[in-house]
Amino acid sequence: MKKKELRAKSERMAGKYTADFQIADFDNRSYPIFYGKNIMNHLGHFLDEYKITERIIIISHPSLKKLFNKKISRSLPERYEVTWALFPSGEKNKNADTVHRLYDKCVQAKIDKNSAIVALGGGVVQDVANYVAATYMRGVPFVQIPTTLLSQADIGVGGCSINHNKGKSLIGQFHQPCLVLMDSSSLKTLPKKELRDGIAELINKVICLGNYDSKIFSADIKKMLSANSKTLQKYIKISNKVKIKIIEKDETGISGHRFLLDWGHTITYALEKVLNYSISHGTALGIGMHGAATLSHQLGFLQKNKVKELEEIIKKSGLPTKLPKLNKKKLLLYMRLDKKNTERGVCFILLKDGFGKAMLSDAISDEKILSCLDEISA
Ligand SMILES: NC(=O)c1ccc[n+]([C@@H]2O[C@H](COP(=O)([O-])OP(=O)(O)OC[C@H]3O[C@@H](n4cnc5c(N)ncnc54)[C@H](O)[C@@H]3O)[C@@H](O)[C@H]2O)c1
Ligand SMILES: [Zn+2]
Repeated sequence: MKKKELRAKSERMAGKYTADFQIADFDNRSYPIFYGKNIMNHLGHFLDEYKITERIIIISHPSLKKLFNKKISRSLPERYEVTWALFPSGEKNKNADTVHRLYDKCVQAKIDKNSAIVALGGGVVQDVANYVAATYMRGVPFVQIPTTLLSQADIGVGGCSINHNKGKSLIGQFHQPCLVLMDSSSLKTLPKKELRDGIAELINKVICLGNYDSKIFSADIKKMLSANSKTLQKYIKISNKVKIKIIEKDETGISGHRFLLDWGHTITYALEKVLNYSISHGTALGIGMHGAATLSHQLGFLQKNKVKELEEIIKKSGLPTKLPKLNKKKLLLYMRLDKKNTERGVCFILLKDGFGKAMLSDAISDEKILSCLDEISA
């Protein structure tokens, strides 16, 4: 679909359902992201309007099918062929075994390039389903309905990854969706812990990378923690705007610009792996961002008061900032598997002169990283 036509159609659909929208601009793979209350109730109409398909496989978790089946099924006309493919929730299932089981389901459901994979769930579902959609038959159409704050704030754009037993997010693909529906009403059923985890990703993009007013954000944290749809939607949109701007410049990471999105994630990924995923991504990110800001300060790039400001916002969101007791050398070992690294060593994304300016570092010595880990230890 031509860009002009895509925009006009999206404006019309947004008007019809009192939703907002953004276009992620990737030339002939550009796609709309809709934000609205109960927007998933109209999935069928969106699939029709964007001429996606009448045969879909919905990848999700059993608990989420229970929550959203009625809404989704009601929205799909009878002529639609719908298959649900469910797998248990949890980061430990974001792996190749799950992907292979889902390929089997796609074969059984006769999914082909004229069908679509719909991802209904949080980041784990989004990553796994995106990977399946990118690789099954070398790529089939893909629709995203993220249902956690974290996945609405972050996964709506960009690539996907699954875990390898040696490291987190080591295997991945870039496969853009045709359509994303962000339904703010789906966040009402989220446990507080999941809201906190999502706020970590908002701090990451909205404050640290986007340089949005941190005082206003901080004052809004209470509303976010009580799942206020309007406030959440406001920050989700800003977060995606920041992410889209970075990805549009470097979709697949060729120029290295895309690595900026890894801000705060170097310690995070390694920490998740060291703790065998017993810590959630968002929770680890609170510590990871504090670590990356501390390192930025230790290397002379970031003012101490900015580290403190960030630490306070993370704490106010109910997230930890301190590294728990663990084997730091092992943590460093996992950091050595990070995709940003060069043959010379571990690289970080650092903040420079405040929020909003991130940069990829050169290789940083083990000594300096260990000293940072000591400073952020509980
Ligand atoms: N590809 C990317 O760009 C990208 C970016 C950030 C994070 N991620 C990945 O996302 C994952 C974390 O995502 P997450 O925090 O959404 O975790 P998650 O997908 O595991 O969801 C957390 C829990 O919330 C439940 N849940 C989902 N929606 C719900 C709802 N509306 N109501 C009640 N419960 C609901 C899920 O079943 C699960 O138990 C990590 O694997 C991380 O690596 C990927
Ligand atoms: Zn993240």
